[in-house]
Amino acid sequence: MKRYLSVLGVTLGLSFGLTCSLTQTFASGGASSATGLYQEQYRPQFHFSPVQQWMNDPNGMVYYAGEYHFFYQHNPYSTIWGPMHWGHAVSKDLVHWEHLPIALFPDHHGAIFSGSAVMDLNNTSGFGSKKNPPMVAIFTYHDHWAEKLGAKTFQSQGLAYSLDKGRSWTKYAGNPVLKSPDIPDFRDPKVTWHEASKQWLMTLAVKDRISFYASKDLKKWQHLSDFGQQIGAHGGVWECPDLIKMRVEGSAEEKYVLLVSINPGAPNGGSGTQYFVGDFDGKTFTLDKKFARDLTSHPAADVMDKGVWLDHGTDNYAGVTWANLPATDSRTLFAGWMNNWNYANQIPTDRWRGAMTLPRELVLVKRGDDYRVHSRLVAEIEKLHQTPLKLTKPITAKSINVGEALAMKNMRQRFQLSIHLQQATTASLVIGNSDERVVFSIDNQRKQLQLQRADSGQVAFESGFAKPQIAALSGALTRVDLDVVLDRSSIEIFVNGGERVFTSQIFPTAPYDSVSLNADAEVTLQSASAFVLGSIWN
Ligand code: FRU
Repeated sequence: MKRYLSVLGVTLGLSFGLTCSLTQTFASGGASSATGLYQEQYRPQFHFSPVQQWMNDPNGMVYYAGEYHFFYQHNPYSTIWGPMHWGHAVSKDLVHWEHLPIALFPDHHGAIFSGSAVMDLNNTSGFGSKKNPPMVAIFTYHDHWAEKLGAKTFQSQGLAYSLDKGRSWTKYAGNPVLKSPDIPDFRDPKVTWHEASKQWLMTLAVKDRISFYASKDLKKWQHLSDFGQQIGAHGGVWECPDLIKMRVEGSAEEKYVLLVSINPGAPNGGSGTQYFVGDFDGKTFTLDKKFARDLTSHPAADVMDKGVWLDHGTDNYAGVTWANLPATDSRTLFAGWMNNWNYANQIPTDRWRGAMTLPRELVLVKRGDDYRVHSRLVAEIEKLHQTPLKLTKPITAKSINVGEALAMKNMRQRFQLSIHLQQATTASLVIGNSDERVVFSIDNQRKQLQLQRADSGQVAFESGFAKPQIAALSGALTRVDLDVVLDRSSIEIFVNGGERVFTSQIFPTAPYDSVSLNADAEVTLQSASAFVLGSIWN
């Protein structure tokens, strides 16, 4: 909780007086080239970022009536973290976003920390009707005054509802609905409907464990069980969980995946998201036997710092999944905050701070007895593809100028490469300009992947930013398929169908304009394609 208090003094005083005028400012939302908005040097062109000021975790992601809602932790008074509100945007296609006014403001119970939203289609809460079901937000109240005064607990869960597709919100008069008896870290409720027991299920982060609660009406909550006190990575506080029922790819088998963000304690420093695979019987989450063995008695090769990780880049945190997707969409859709608490308040952006990852599909893959979660970009991103380029025939060499081979006129923002390593033990993809570069390496000798951003541009704003990011491999890779997305201040690399992912911020002083592949023996670039991704803000 220290990181919250340090910036709070500056902003807390402003917290309550300005709320009305802010609603006006944000109501107009959207980008305007005349003012230079969304034209700034590091402004993501196809990732979501707020019009201005601070953003952290994605919150309340829910789909309703043709719109994907995206709420987010937002400080409208500053580009550093402060009194939390829920910012709001909607999208019809998961790609283009329309900014809406701030949805939730702090009140006498506290600031509005992370949480989720559901469509209460049967009106179990009584906030609406079956004809006009309420969208209900379930969030954490953080009472900064109580914390300052040394109270034992200062986080509780509250409700708010909307009867007009998230455009206006009413806080529940009976708030808070769930208080911690004794633990200060008691937050980030993710609520889903559990069909088998016909009740709502809340997955809550409680310091070093996940607590499950159940409710018939979203208002009265009953504790069911706890998970994780001695399991997985524990280098920091557990935050922002999500329990997801997933179907194993290519089969009818179902498993539960529990996402748990942790800060600090990620293998490459600071914030990261680990996950667990198991079963949930309506009351208790039980780890899959092999997954449990991978974590404990016979640690699997991909276990790092006692956890299995969703992303090995340093910049994918607090991600959760969208609720209430239409019945015709069986995907698990995910987005995370593309940042890390180690330097989130220092990254060299102006006007705004914080962006989200591109929306991803999480896929549960089973190989032998092993279940792992892979991440892939959603197909909707292809809407942004422009001027496709394709390699006409494979190239075999130790060093390949991929940019030239594809006749890239400028830096293409998404490219897909299929590399056959043959006798090579290491191969590196180098993306950069004449002075700066980010280097992604496959190292079969050390059985690891590495992303190096020490020379990527501005790195000095935090001492750990230049450290390499590493993912352990279970075995040597002979064929590597890469899907790389480069925006103005980020790179996302999906390896072999999203089996490993690196999401990483970069701050080049000039745009990157070259891509090359260098290996210690001949490799074959079997296929390659590239696309410019159009801006979502024009
Ligand atoms: C995660 C987190 C949450 C909390 C929110 C506060 O990044 O610390 O646990 O609810 O941010 O902004």
